[in-house]
Amino acid sequence: MNEQPSRKEREAALEGIGTSRKRVEDPRFTQGKGNYVDDIKLPDMVHGDFVRSPYAHARIKKINKDAALAVPGVLAVLTADDLKPFNLHYMPTLAGDVQAVLADEKVLYQMQEVAFVVATDRYAAADGVEAVEVEYDELEPVIDPFKAMDKDAPILREDIKDAKEVGGHGPRKHPNHIWTWEAGDQKATDKAFKDADVTVKEMVSYQRCHASPMETACCVASFDKINGALTVWGTFQAPHVVRTVAALISPLPEHKIRIISPDIGGGFGNKVGVYPGYIMAIAATVVLGIPVKWVEDRIENLSATAFARDYHMAGELSATKDGKITGLRCYTLADHGAFDACVSASKFPAGLFMICTNSYDIPNAFVSVDGVYTNKTPGGVAYRCSLRVTEAIYMVERMVDILAQKLGMDPAELRMKNLIKPDQFPYTTTFGLQYDSGDYPAAFKKAMKSVGYDALRKEQAKKLEDFKAGKSRSLMGIGVCTFTEIVGAGPSRVCDIVGLVGTFDSCEVRVHPTGVAIARFGTKSQGQAHETTYAQILSTEMGIPAADIEIEEGDTDTAPYGLGTWGSRSTPVGGAACANAARKVRAKAQKIAAHVMEVSEKDLEWDIDTFRVKGAPDKAMTMKEVALAAYSNVPEGLELGLEAVEYYDPPNFTFPYGAYICVVDIDADTGETAIRSFYALDDCGTRINPMIIEGQVHGGLTEAFAIAMGQIIDYDEAGNVIGASFLDYFIPTAVETPIWTTDHTVTPCPHHPIGAKGVGESPNVGGVPAFSNAVNDAFAALGGVHTQMPHTAPRVWEHAKELGLVA
Ligand code: CDP
Repeated sequence: MNEQPSRKEREAALEGIGTSRKRVEDPRFTQGKGNYVDDIKLPDMVHGDFVRSPYAHARIKKINKDAALAVPGVLAVLTADDLKPFNLHYMPTLAGDVQAVLADEKVLYQMQEVAFVVATDRYAAADGVEAVEVEYDELEPVIDPFKAMDKDAPILREDIKDAKEVGGHGPRKHPNHIWTWEAGDQKATDKAFKDADVTVKEMVSYQRCHASPMETACCVASFDKINGALTVWGTFQAPHVVRTVAALISPLPEHKIRIISPDIGGGFGNKVGVYPGYIMAIAATVVLGIPVKWVEDRIENLSATAFARDYHMAGELSATKDGKITGLRCYTLADHGAFDACVSASKFPAGLFMICTNSYDIPNAFVSVDGVYTNKTPGGVAYRCSLRVTEAIYMVERMVDILAQKLGMDPAELRMKNLIKPDQFPYTTTFGLQYDSGDYPAAFKKAMKSVGYDALRKEQAKKLEDFKAGKSRSLMGIGVCTFTEIVGAGPSRVCDIVGLVGTFDSCEVRVHPTGVAIARFGTKSQGQAHETTYAQILSTEMGIPAADIEIEEGDTDTAPYGLGTWGSRSTPVGGAACANAARKVRAKAQKIAAHVMEVSEKDLEWDIDTFRVKGAPDKAMTMKEVALAAYSNVPEGLELGLEAVEYYDPPNFTFPYGAYICVVDIDADTGETAIRSFYALDDCGTRINPMIIEGQVHGGLTEAFAIAMGQIIDYDEAGNVIGASFLDYFIPTAVETPIWTTDHTVTPCPHHPIGAKGVGESPNVGGVPAFSNAVNDAFAALGGVHTQMPHTAPRVWEHAKELGLVA
């Protein structure tokens, strides 16, 4: 019997939105068949390597290239003086500053690029690097950001010492000052604090850390002298932005520059900006006319490629005595290192820090951030978060716990009291952000019920009694975090990059005559499985099985212009472009189906993968059939073919949210923290692929765990980088990584075509405070208020000692 498949079966065959479709990219990754930059080998290709500064702050007296040039295989040694005639010794940063491509007269941080050696192979290049002789005169460094604006602090950036402002962000107060950024109503907030029953204040620092993607930064640049065309394969999260910047600083027209991001081994914000290695590989290929490869090693990556965080936040909350938060204030000192190479939208030097009122209905808030230069690596990337969001949420989530402690209230009860209520949506924060949708109390209640919150608190009280009675040396901590993320940068009217291009994104979809399709995007996956999930959106919208849709990203010659993947913007922006492009295709397909079946367009209804004539369901055409007709039989006035392009400029950000609860057991005598359990509830609106969401949450929580419990890029007083290898820098393996429990609620985004919000960064934003609150909570009943991350065993032990809990 030839039975027709049921609706359910037809729907399942599509593997569309809501299906846990297996990642189509994984077979090539798991079989070692990925195509990463270092896999690219071109004829005659040569290799570049950097001479780097051993000092944090020093004047360059002399560079002698002779010995290096005599090393067999070395072809060239380039210094800032070689770049000056082409004005290439400085490059623009995404923050509106400039950064030295090669150190110009002085070095400003340890491991800064001083000279570029090009040789026939990597080893010869490294030997050449060793042979370059650089004479330095050491200068006093500025390492502590709190001393950067001291009256007698040495001036770091002599190149801009008289500049009135940097990046158009207003007047500078000191030669080492970059900008001041403020938001909110200072007067109203000061009044709220004056009138408050209770206020709390604490210096909450978010340490300098590093995203350390598995693949370091690298590129292969190849200049075709005959055609005047440049091709660069690189680890670029935003290939089109790189192309535009390259066109702006070179004599090449934009259409002669092709930027290709092949497979990328993780980005986490670290591969958004432009690094000197890219510029030097390009400069070298243009001069030499042969391809040049530059691949950074791990120590270079950790010490010289953009850092994350380094925000020092003096947080304050004011409240009534029964726990209604009335005001938030925060003064932040932001250490940007030697150049302001922070990845941010032009108008927001402190990113989206104004998300700091979080999930709470806080009527008054005022924040102020000062960016300063120090003798450290530049950067300020959004390490798995949207532009300073994780810093902001960390500050407020620590402050809520500290307020609860002062009020003698349970931190969960205080949160519940202040959460924005569902009937307040769309909710406009005191900073003017409009949160799109949410039911925060429902999510939080579900989280508390799932972990058995009340029972945990009772157990904690019992353990504390035992500890006080000397029966146990173990302390239990419960860390709660409720958070709202802001992702999907963003509406072009508020968000642009280098003041030039708005943060829209794009999708181009083409259905072939046989009913299979290809779609290209301006975003670029670095492991998030866009090849799998974009196909699912298209599949549901066009009725073509996901398996029949090829997804391409990362080649500026073929992909439509887009702003790339960072800040969890792919689903909110690229995903919306995807759905709208598919809808355009379907709208055209409907016209063609009506024409072929000789009915009015209005008489057709859409049924999973088929257009049916209303009232005569057997009269129907599948999308596959329409695709064929699109190339031969279309109504008069309609062009042949079945394709569409969408450039999507979102009307608003999307605001995913979550409720996380972490339980820890701390050995007071060693400071060792065991993560007993971690529960993460996320609401990212419509869920495209539940399995991939779970994977994203697992990955993000693992990075949150790493940051909260171990990651730090530290410096000694002389400016030597400490912790720039995997011997010191904490990368958790499966052994250390806790077991995660994930959960969800679904509140669709009202302005997104399929109701989806981003998710990739939420676990980092919510995870870090949950871990930190748990560690701090263990000591709260014993007089502890706040201890800085990372919560390594020695630091936790020190804290216990300070509180007199250990001898
Ligand atoms: O921009 P990025 O890809 O880093 O982040 P994202 O938009 O949060 O998406 C990460 C992955 O999760 C993608 O493969 C998405 O398709 C998937 N996702 C999903 O399945 N459903 C959502 N509502 C959000 C993301």
